[in-house]
Amino acid sequence: MNLQRPNWASISSQLSKFEKNFYVEAPSVASMTEAEADEFRKHQHIAVLQGRNVPKPIRTFEEAQFPDYIMQTVRSQKFERPTAIQAQGWPCALSGRDLVGLAETGSGKTLAFVLPVIVHINAQPFLQPGDGPIVLVLAPTRELAVQIQEVCNTFGVTSKIKNTCVYGGVPKGPQIRDLSRGVEIVIATPGRLIDMLEGGKTNLRRVTYLVLDEADRMLDMGFEPQIRKIMDQIRPDRQTLMWSATWPKEVKALAREFLSEDMIQINIGSMDLAANHRVTQIVDIVQEYEKRPKLMKLLETIMDGGRILIFTQTKKGADQLQRALRGEGWPALAIHGDKTQQERDSTLAEFRSGRSPIMVATDVAARGLDVKDVRYVINYDFASTAEDYVHRIGRTGRAGATGTAYSFFTSGDFKLASKLAKVLAEAGQEVPPQLHQFAVMSKASGGPKNSFRGRGYRPSGGSYMPPSSYSSSGSSYPSSSSGSASHYGPSASSRPSSSAVPGALPQAAVPAYGMYPAYGAASTSYGAYPAVGVVNPYAYGAAAGATSASSAVRRY
Ligand SMILES: Nc1ncnc2c1ncn2[C@@H]1O[C@H](COP(=O)(O)OP(=O)(O)OP(=O)(O)O)[C@@H](O)[C@H]1O
Ligand SMILES: [Mg+2]
Repeated sequence: MNLQRPNWASISSQLSKFEKNFYVEAPSVASMTEAEADEFRKHQHIAVLQGRNVPKPIRTFEEAQFPDYIMQTVRSQKFERPTAIQAQGWPCALSGRDLVGLAETGSGKTLAFVLPVIVHINAQPFLQPGDGPIVLVLAPTRELAVQIQEVCNTFGVTSKIKNTCVYGGVPKGPQIRDLSRGVEIVIATPGRLIDMLEGGKTNLRRVTYLVLDEADRMLDMGFEPQIRKIMDQIRPDRQTLMWSATWPKEVKALAREFLSEDMIQINIGSMDLAANHRVTQIVDIVQEYEKRPKLMKLLETIMDGGRILIFTQTKKGADQLQRALRGEGWPALAIHGDKTQQERDSTLAEFRSGRSPIMVATDVAARGLDVKDVRYVINYDFASTAEDYVHRIGRTGRAGATGTAYSFFTSGDFKLASKLAKVLAEAGQEVPPQLHQFAVMSKASGGPKNSFRGRGYRPSGGSYMPPSSYSSSGSSYPSSSSGSASHYGPSASSRPSSSAVPGALPQAAVPAYGMYPAYGAASTSYGAYPAVGVVNPYAYGAAAGATSASSAVRRY
């Protein structure tokens, strides 16, 4: 079935009214002067780049005036205070405003949109049979969609909000079943969602709160046609929120098409492309052939039991590197788009649990993934855009932690030298002199054209021969790392349990955590590498649960 775009202009009077402004300032916020609000913003590096009547920031969780049923869960997380993006993002999102929220990797953007989601849903009429979701969250990868779902589960549990994840690579049946039983939140990757819409398995007529996580990725050329198709199905007076750590100029105009004129844009920290400052960035200019031995040496130095995420450019490269690592006795798994969903799930679960502390990945793992205690990110192959670089290294140093990123940079990457040098300088990191020389060459060759929107762009490996002075810079690795608000609508208890909603799926039956089903299944997939258990008994044998004992992780 081909999706028809409803003529929104002609049916606007028939659309049911809905509430999207739930925000009532706490007395302590109301009494803040504009000057005090600005002072707080300055202190938190919050810049309001666009928007009229922007609400004042909140300074504590209490000031956001979330209802008790949300605050219970917030308290259980033991967070000290809202992050800057939450402090300014929550009042904007709760006020029903369209928002572009830009803040560094690992700074709590997920909760910045998830808590208002719950408030929004609880203020809407209950789902009726045949209704689609009230909230749609779009994300670029299945793993990120599932992770967002888990945050929705954690914070939505007290109000019995139901959700499902819709993504490709797995059978449609269970997703169709969830959709037909009725869920308030759908978290989706675009392709599978369009399949579901075209198949008439769900509809977006009730969507009034739309989130684009990793919004610049969702709006880049790879996803744009799909995003347009999806947007066409959603009433234009919805609330739209876009989030990312990067916002290249190529997507700005397109983003505006999907946002109301009354939108707000907030930016935490640098206005330019910027990496998380708690990540120590080390760039090693190398020749292609040096990468493998250098990586092995680096691992010897840094492996201390913490998780290490290694990025390659291609799926084949990821597989080859995984094999090489395992050949040397390192307990490495690989994740990329050619793996089955079960393999992807089990690999990520092994990495998250720490049972397998080294994960080799393509850019499927570059954005959004929040894995505790990733200490090192290694760019074995450099990223294809400077934005991707920022996201990749943002897998470490999250939620206030510190981390280290090592990047191999070859002559083939020279077009990104200038942008990388800027990112390094902005974060107060050392810029290798050769990077400057590459940057000069890049300018002479016209610079990186459309490096973001094009995505496919990457200088072909060996086509550029570097002058001999660009050969290996020697080792640059240090020996260790651096370090009850009634205005929110019905309370949780007044919301019917799912069984009270006709046709609704009981909460427990939603495949919430089922996305990481079987560690048992995981072990079967290791059968392909029978030798590993012999080479390195740590990884798949005795060491489950022993990951923090650094001695256990050293190769035998
Ligand atoms: N107020 C807070 N205080 C401390 N930790 C928090 C707070 N809010 C969220 N976190 C934690 O911070 C971590 C990172 O959050 P999140 O994944 O939302 O980051 P992000 O900004 O979306 O990053 P990315 O750009 O990489 O997607 C999570 O583990 C989350 O639980
Ligand atoms: Mg995120």
